[in-house]
Amino acid sequence: MAENNVIIITGGASGIGREAAYLLSEAGNAIVVADFNEEGAKETAANIEAQGGKAATFKVDVSKAEEVEAMVNFAVETFGTLNGIFNNAGIGLVKPLLEMDPASYHKVIDVDQHSVYYGIYYGAKKMVELGAKGTIVNTASIYGSMAAKGSFNYNAAKAAVVMMSKSGALELAEHGIRVVGVAPGFIDTPILGEDEEMKKALSALHMHNKLIQPEKVASVVKFLFSEEAAAINGSTVAVDDGFLS
Ligand code: NAI
Repeated sequence: MAENNVIIITGGASGIGREAAYLLSEAGNAIVVADFNEEGAKETAANIEAQGGKAATFKVDVSKAEEVEAMVNFAVETFGTLNGIFNNAGIGLVKPLLEMDPASYHKVIDVDQHSVYYGIYYGAKKMVELGAKGTIVNTASIYGSMAAKGSFNYNAAKAAVVMMSKSGALELAEHGIRVVGVAPGFIDTPILGEDEEMKKALSALHMHNKLIQPEKVASVVKFLFSEEAAAINGSTVAVDDGFLS
């Protein structure tokens, strides 16, 4: 995908999504910064506009199908077409399995898994309707392929995201739409919380003994959206500083 495209980024108010918004804007794309956190989304968009880029914000709860559909329609109404979605918004909710009540399970499945289905479904349908080619990138996790204690819900959701990238790619290739994923290690963003001791322990799991900065994931995401990545399809690329190696 070349520049001058229209890309929706969910979770664009913070962390990985915000950095991806900046890099994809610098590459010449118009960005819809979509997030639950309206204020953070507006800040991302304002920073893009201050650099001469094009951005609009959309308040969305990605766990709600109708809101994701409205987000897709908004992108087309605002910028005239749609060439990409970064399905990236997500949450964690850590609990031992024996305390993983249905509400805690479903919360994470709804936000981290069903959101990706909604993004692929409504996004790809719209792109096909418009005859627009493009790319869908989904944020998985190292915990989509490796079990972690307290993460039964998150493990299940992110494993599903890895498979949705493959399955989506298989069906959408004929329409000129690539579907790929990123699987971050531990990234230095607000999702990790404030516990510095825990962050130190997590840092030690990476080969460089530190948390990964969100810009490092964003630069891989930018590459995945680019023409240079045309032969990457269905894969989920690890950005984990050797965590899984
Ligand atoms: P973050 O907390 O900085 O950003 C997540 C964004 O998603 C926030 O702006 C939040 O408002 C938004 N969001 C949450 N629930 C939402 C909903 N229902 N609807 C719309 N927006 C919602 O965290 P980060 O690290 O940038 O997370 C991005 C993605 O990366 C998530 O899918 C996360 O699971 C994944 N990830 C993060 C890792 C990390 O260590 N930070 C590791 C592996 C994966």
